Amino acid sequence: MTDDTPPIKRILSGLPGDELYTLEQPEPGKDYLDLMEQRRWAFWNSKPDDEKSHYQGYDVTPELLKNSLARQVHAELAAIHAPNLSLQVCPWQEAKLWYARQMNEEGRHFRLVRDHLLELGGTWDDDYAPDFAEWNQLFSLFMNLDNHFFLDKRKEVIARAAVLNFGIEGWDHLYVQPLFLEKIRDVDPTLFEIYDEVIMPDETIHYQIGQFILGEYATTTELQRVGVEYLDRQLIAHHRVNAAFKRYHEEKDEAAGAGAGQDHADAGH
Ligand SMILES: [Fe+2]
Ligand SMILES: [Fe+2]
Repeated sequence: MTDDTPPIKRILSGLPGDELYTLEQPEPGKDYLDLMEQRRWAFWNSKPDDEKSHYQGYDVTPELLKNSLARQVHAELAAIHAPNLSLQVCPWQEAKLWYARQMNEEGRHFRLVRDHLLELGGTWDDDYAPDFAEWNQLFSLFMNLDNHFFLDKRKEVIARAAVLNFGIEGWDHLYVQPLFLEKIRDVDPTLFEIYDEVIMPDETIHYQIGQFILGEYATTTELQRVGVEYLDRQLIAHHRVNAAFKRYHEEKDEAAGAGAGQDHADAGH
């Protein structure tokens, strides 16, 4: 390390894998993935159960279900565009092929969830963006990577794989979606089928794409450090989303209460 090397900025510390910030030799791919996995579990295990999931609000009222589904439709579109950003700059052929597959599958999810939303009487148009600041921040993290890496495309691909495939989709696959399925089984059996039969099996592949890219291509100490840094950024941003749902739903309830009052007043005329 020379004197002009910028100091390493740790995003999280006190978790398994802290050493990935300051490796002198790269870890073998499998050991690297093991450490990343342990780090992710340790982080989420330190949070209360109701802050471990972002599939919240699907089982409250039909209005809230439509609101949640619109957000999900938008998420599927974002999940087409983010791998496309990586595909365009990715220097690794095998990784490009996996991204092409993912984009196709996210397009299928988009259609299925959008059509279901429309069947429920919801609407969809391209002007939509979620009315939820923390949610939008998480999405901008995997689209823009906090505006880092305008030059090194390897870092860009590793960071995006750490946030989206390994971080978000990995947590979905391991923890969130099984819970979510239980939650919607009785509320919306069609949505249950869409997730059980199509989306969840595809998401397993998307998580494995993240493992493949990190395990296969993060082969230097610098790329392994980028991977852990962006896993940490993802964990923080994703946890913020989950923890914000309570406030978000309270605001929705208040707005609905005010709206109902208005309807009632109107009906009185
Ligand atoms: Fe998807
Ligand atoms: Fe996905």
